[in-house]
Amino acid sequence: MEQQRCIGLKWQSSWPVPLSPAATIIYYKYSVSFPETGFNPPSITLIATGFTRSLSMSIDQVLRTRYASKLYDETKTLTAEQEQQLFDLLRYSPSSVNSQPWHFFALVSDEAKEKILPAVTEANHNKIKKSAMVVVFTTHTEITEAHLKNLLAQEKQDGRFASEEQEQNQDKGRRYFVNRNSNTPEQQRDWMARQAYISLGFLLLGAASMGLDATPIEGFFADKLDSALGLEEKQLTSVVLAAVGYHDGNDFNAKLPKSRLPQEQVITRL
Ligand SMILES: Cc1cc2nc3c(=O)[nH]c(=O)nc-3n(C[C@H](O)[C@H](O)[C@H](O)COP(=O)(O)O)c2cc1C
Repeated sequence: MEQQRCIGLKWQSSWPVPLSPAATIIYYKYSVSFPETGFNPPSITLIATGFTRSLSMSIDQVLRTRYASKLYDETKTLTAEQEQQLFDLLRYSPSSVNSQPWHFFALVSDEAKEKILPAVTEANHNKIKKSAMVVVFTTHTEITEAHLKNLLAQEKQDGRFASEEQEQNQDKGRRYFVNRNSNTPEQQRDWMARQAYISLGFLLLGAASMGLDATPIEGFFADKLDSALGLEEKQLTSVVLAAVGYHDGNDFNAKLPKSRLPQEQVITRL
């Protein structure tokens, strides 16, 4: 039989059917036409399945599908490019007066992860052990003169100042804000921790947009973690953790619907 030439494959509509926070089926409806023969079969429907979290997701899809993974697939690791992208998410996070009062430890080896296990609550052990990378968010124990000078020198090197006056104004402005938040050492540390939490948010959303899973983790003992990583000697202290990797098929949280308070309870438009 002579093969008919299909010249038209025309998209008609598509609609997603969510299965879980992490997976969806997308149906695409096309019409097909064979004008040479006048044969116009009914529309066909193609089905695409898989994770909604792909590299081409909109921000809306990312935030609706990301979730705190409870179980990781220990066989899956990150590529060098993925690691670098995660580092960039952390490093490029914004902070008040560009203070960057942080240092991030990326734990990828079993040895490094084992080291921090005693400092982490039992419920989080598997996330530490099985995820591809654990990020320990730390902040400086205090904002030092050396750090303030380092920031200014970096901004200068990065071409932020057209004149010495601009440079001085930036330094003055930063010191003013640092001082405002430094009435006590505890207040200064709280302020630094708030900056670290911004980078946690960047990492969580960024990882999801890369098709990765992540878990923010506060279930640990900061004093124990500080000793496990020798943070005191480095004038650093731990703030929060995050596990990043690929969720396991048995992760119960992947299948649960997302739960959030209604918009009117948490947002007021004035
Ligand atoms: C700062 C912070 C600390 C958290 N600590 C833990 C933790 O120690 N262990 C855990 O399994 N989940 C932890 N979570 C996950 C939250 O329970 C989860 O984000 C929340 O229930 C909202 O669900 P979703 O992230 O899946 O949307 C933490 C979340 C945040 C933001």
